[in-house]
Amino acid sequence: MIEANHLRTTRESYGRLAETYAEFARPLFEQEHLDRAAIAAFAGFVRAGGDGTVADVGCGPGHVTAHLHALGLTAFGVDLSPEMIDLARRTHPHLRFDVGSMTELDLADGALGGVLARYSIIHTPPERVPEAFAEFHRVLAPGGLLLLSFQAHDEPSAPPEPFDHQVALAYRWSPDHVVSLLRETGMVEVARLILAGREDTKRRFPQAHLLLRKSAEAQP
Ligand SMILES: C[S@@+](CC[C@H](N)C(=O)[O-])C[C@H]1O[C@@H](n2cnc3c(N)ncnc32)[C@H](O)[C@@H]1O
Repeated sequence: MIEANHLRTTRESYGRLAETYAEFARPLFEQEHLDRAAIAAFAGFVRAGGDGTVADVGCGPGHVTAHLHALGLTAFGVDLSPEMIDLARRTHPHLRFDVGSMTELDLADGALGGVLARYSIIHTPPERVPEAFAEFHRVLAPGGLLLLSFQAHDEPSAPPEPFDHQVALAYRWSPDHVVSLLRETGMVEVARLILAGREDTKRRFPQAHLLLRKSAEAQP
């Protein structure tokens, strides 16, 4: 099968900069209190829904997968970049990390209680995003939760631009547009948290955290 260009470019850029990205993201996550609040709420909903397994899709160096584990969830990470997965495995040897793409997850239908996709759809061109969303929906059990985080924009989608850590170009979307795409797959919005961007920080764009639930009713 021919691989899409954006997957190759993304894998190569994170492969070259896995350690650099980890040095950027790990300490930042320690200070991201509202992100952590959203993740804690996600964990609570997953536990209440039967405590199913959670995939951290586009897990990077695995620090958030480890955080999910520390919150008591059965969590594993998936990432496009073998170098990222290698780094995640070395840093968190007690956890499972797999190489794979969010567009083609090696998981059975309905296998998961939760999907966390934290800043990992941002390198996917807008026309390919529905593919990833359909895959999130497929692997979630009915009633399963999705927590999706990305840099927000007022327009439905915006041209790619250099991201805060400069690893690769990133896309931004409006939260409403993303929710409407997810709704088409059979997901229902539970809540959204929008953080203001701050020029004086490493998060200069507004950040959206969307919590959605896969409808428990049978899909057409
Ligand atoms: C900005 S980093 C986010 C890493 C981590 N989730 C975090 O919160 O710090 C984006 C990650 O998503 C991964 N990624 C991008 N597209 C992907 C895809 N199609 N499938 C799996 N991982 C992907 C990249 O390799 C990279 O590690």
